[in-house]
Amino acid sequence: MPRVKLSRFRVRQPEPDALAAYMLAYPGYELHFQPETLTPITAEALFGHACPLVIDFGCGRGDFLIGLAQEQPDACFVGIDFHQKSLWDAVNKASAAGVTNVRFLHGDIRRMLKLAPDGSVSEAYMLFPPPYLKPSKLYKDPLPEDTLREIARLLAPGAPFHFVTDSAEYFDAKRDLIGESGWFEIASTSQGFEGGKTYFQQFWEKRNIESRRLEAHRTHTPLPPHSEV
Ligand SMILES: C[S@@+](CC[C@H](N)C(=O)[O-])C[C@H]1O[C@@H](n2cnc3c(N)ncnc32)[C@H](O)[C@@H]1O
Repeated sequence: MPRVKLSRFRVRQPEPDALAAYMLAYPGYELHFQPETLTPITAEALFGHACPLVIDFGCGRGDFLIGLAQEQPDACFVGIDFHQKSLWDAVNKASAAGVTNVRFLHGDIRRMLKLAPDGSVSEAYMLFPPPYLKPSKLYKDPLPEDTLREIARLLAPGAPFHFVTDSAEYFDAKRDLIGESGWFEIASTSQGFEGGKTYFQQFWEKRNIESRRLEAHRTHTPLPPHSEV
């Protein structure tokens, strides 16, 4: 089935106070030239206090993350996405729900993780990332090896990384990358219908497409020297 564009939807620009409360921008220029001017990706900087930090890479419209934030009020939840309209929708929902333990960071996952300290994240998700595998599109892949390395760096030893996709080919490629990296141990893999836990999972399940899921745990293996992407 050809990929479909689901980014065309109507959304109201959030009120300024909701944007100020929930959303932070990480523009490419500052990330490259002046990263010290941006808010660090830490619980203290984003929430004002220490708390277990959970990150959703490519959080989209935020429903999944807001649900987790409501279930786990003592943890802090960070969604990262570069699609502004999706994050506006997420901010509107978070504001309407009145959750205080969620933030949305507007920027490119592959450029901003250097703002998170080593071992500072207790759990991470990447759910239904766009499955770019063709050589001509690889520059858009949200999970190249350098980014996986950054995710490994910021996860605490033993912390889980949940990866879910509708694409069999993308799943196989990333399972091999994650499993062979030495930075993660794959704890489980599964395939099936899960009841539409995210917006995109609902979309694919309605079309009778199963999800492929893996949970990997950060090992104690040290990382190789960092190479800037
Ligand atoms: C198919 S959607 C999935 C959204 C959500 N996780 C879900 O399951 O409903 C993929 C999301 O990843 C975001 N994305 C893709 N590449 C990204 C990148 N390099 N940096 C930030 N966000 C990215 C897209 O903007 C989009 O919102």
